[in-house]
Amino acid sequence: MKIIIVGASGTLGQKVTEDLEKEHEVIRVGSKSGDIQADLTNPESLEEMFKKAGPFDALVCAAGSGHFGPLKEMTGEDFKKGLNSKLLGQVNLVLIGQHYINPKGSFTLISGVLSDDPIQNSVNVAAVNSAVNGFVKAAALELENGVRINAVSPGVVEDSPQLFDAFPGHKPVSMERVVYAYRKSVLGHITGQVIKEV
Ligand SMILES: NC(=O)c1ccc[n+]([C@@H]2O[C@H](COP(=O)([O-])OP(=O)(O)OC[C@H]3O[C@@H](n4cnc5c(N)ncnc54)[C@H](OP(=O)(O)O)[C@@H]3O)[C@@H](O)[C@H]2O)c1
Repeated sequence: MKIIIVGASGTLGQKVTEDLEKEHEVIRVGSKSGDIQADLTNPESLEEMFKKAGPFDALVCAAGSGHFGPLKEMTGEDFKKGLNSKLLGQVNLVLIGQHYINPKGSFTLISGVLSDDPIQNSVNVAAVNSAVNGFVKAAALELENGVRINAVSPGVVEDSPQLFDAFPGHKPVSMERVVYAYRKSVLGHITGQVIKEV
C-alpha cells in the first residue's frame, strides 16, 4: 500500500510511521519536516501535497492542534485555532483527498479522549475532537468507491510525559495501543468508527 502520513515526525506519527513503513510505502508529511511539506491550515498546500504524492491507498493523520486555556479568558480568535488546524485541516484532507485516493482506500483521522473526558482548559480541543468524530461517522456514509474513514481517539500517551500533570487521573496509554488502533483502521475493514484507546 502507498500510505501518506501527515504528522509523521510527531510523537504519535513517528511510532505509527515506524510500524507501517515495515510493510508499506510511506510518504511523510509535515509543515517543516517530511518527504513533502504541507500546512494543515492551508487548503492550497494540501491540494499541492496530494498532487505531488499521486494516487494513494491510505491517508493517516497524526497532526492538528488547538487552543488550551481557561474559558473565562477565551476569545473567538483563540477558539479558531482548533477549528482551523485540527478540525478544518483534517476535514480538508478528506474533502480534497477523496478526489485523489484509490478505490477501497482509507482515511484515518486523529481526535482524542478530551471529547468524552475533558480536563481543565480543554474546551477548544474537546469540542474539536467531538467534531472530528462526528465528521468521520457521517462522511463514512457518503465516501464512494469503497473508501473508508475512521478516527483514532487515544488518551494522553506514555510518550508525552510533559502533559501528565494536565491530565490528573488519566492513565497514560501505551504507544503500542495507539499504533494498533491505526493498524486497525488502515489495514482492517471497518468504517465510520471512532477507535478509542483510553
Ligand atoms: N500526545 C498525546 O498524548 C495525544 C493524545 C491524544 C491525541 N493526540 C493528538 O494527536 C495529534 C498529534 O499529537 P502529537 O503529540 O503526536 O503532536 P506533535 O508531537 O507535536 O507532532 C505534530 C506533528 O504534526 C506536524 N505538524 C504540525 N503542524 C502542522 C501543520 N500546520 N501542518 C502539517 N503538519 C503539521 C509536525 O511536523 P512539522 O513540525 O514538520 O510540522 C509533527 O509531525 C494531535 O492532534 C493531538 O491532539 C495527542
